[in-house]
Amino acid sequence: MNRLNTKTLPRSWVAVGISMLMATSAWAQEPAAATAALKGSAAAGEKIAQSGSAGGAAACATCHGAKGEGQAGFPALAGQHAGYLERQLNQMAAGARQSAVMAPMAKALSEQERADVAAFYSSLKLPIKAVRGALPGKDDDSGAWLVERGRWADGIPACAQCHGPGGVGVGKDFPAIGHLPADYMQTQIDAWNKGQREAGPLGLMGAVAKKLTAEDIKAVAAYYQRLHNPAAATTTAKP
Ligand code: HEC
Ligand code: HEC
Repeated sequence: MNRLNTKTLPRSWVAVGISMLMATSAWAQEPAAATAALKGSAAAGEKIAQSGSAGGAAACATCHGAKGEGQAGFPALAGQHAGYLERQLNQMAAGARQSAVMAPMAKALSEQERADVAAFYSSLKLPIKAVRGALPGKDDDSGAWLVERGRWADGIPACAQCHGPGGVGVGKDFPAIGHLPADYMQTQIDAWNKGQREAGPLGLMGAVAKKLTAEDIKAVAAYYQRLHNPAAATTTAKP
C-alpha cells in the first residue's frame, strides 16, 4: 500500500485518491524533496518568456502567446499555479513527460530558470473565473455530468471535485482546465494512456484518463465553454 501524505492534500481529495489509487503510483513513492520548488523570479522569467534563455530555449511567447494566452496547438500558461508549471517543466526536462517540441526547451533551462518562468506565467491573469455550474439533471449532456457530478458507474469523479469550480484549478496539484481547448486536452489524455506523461499527484489523473473517451473530452470542453461564455453560447446555439 502506498503511503499518502495527508498533510498536503485536503481530506476529500485524499478520499478520492485512496479509492482511485493505482497500486504502483510512482508519485506516491517519490521522496518529497525531489519535488521541492525553488523560489522563482517573475522578472527573470519574463525576460526568458520574451527573448529566450542563455542556454538556448526559444522565446516562450512565440508559441504560447505574448501574454501566455496560448494558441492552437500550444497550451495557455497564464494564471496556472507556479508549482504546477514548474513541475511540468521539470518532468519534461527529466523525460517523465514527453514532447518532441517542448521537452528540449525544458532541458535547455536551468532548474532556477524553470522556477523563474513558472513564477512569471503564474503572475499573469487566468482567463476564466470560478463559476459553479448547476448540478445537471437527466436532460443535461454528458459534459455537464462529467464536470459537475462525475460518472460514478465508471468510477469517474466530477472534474470539478479536483479541478475546482469552473475548472479554475486548485493549488499546485490540480491545474486549471476550464479554458483548455478539446484538442489539447485530448493530446494529454492520449499521452497518459500511452505512458508518455507522468500522471502527477498520486497518479490521480492517469486513472481518470483511462476512462475518458474522445466524446467525453469534447463534451467537457464544450460545457466549460458554455459555462464561461453563456452569452456566446446562446447566440451561436442555432443557425
Ligand atoms: C516551438 C513552440 C514552443 C515554444 C517556443 C515553447 N513551448 Fe511550451 N509547449 C509547446 C507545446 C507544443 C506544448 C504541449 C506539449 C504537450 O503536448 O504535452 C507545450 C507545453 C508547455 C507547458 C505545459 C503546460 C501545461 O498546461 O501542462 C509548459 C509549462 C510550457 N510549455 C512552458 C514553456 C516555456 C516556459 C517556454 C519558454 C522557455 C516554452 N514553453 C516555449 C511548445 C512550445
Ligand atoms: C481525482 C482528481 C482528479 C479528477 C477527478 C480529475 N482530474 Fe484532471 N488532473 C488531476 C491532476 C492531479 C492533474 C495534474 C497532473 C500532473 O501534474 O501532471 C490533472 C491534469 C489534467 C489535465 C492536464 C492539464 C494541462 O494543462 O496539461 C487535463 C486536461 C485534465 N486533468 C482533465 C480532466 C477532466 C476533463 C476531468 C473530468 C472528467 C478531470 N481532469 C478529473 C486530477 C484530477
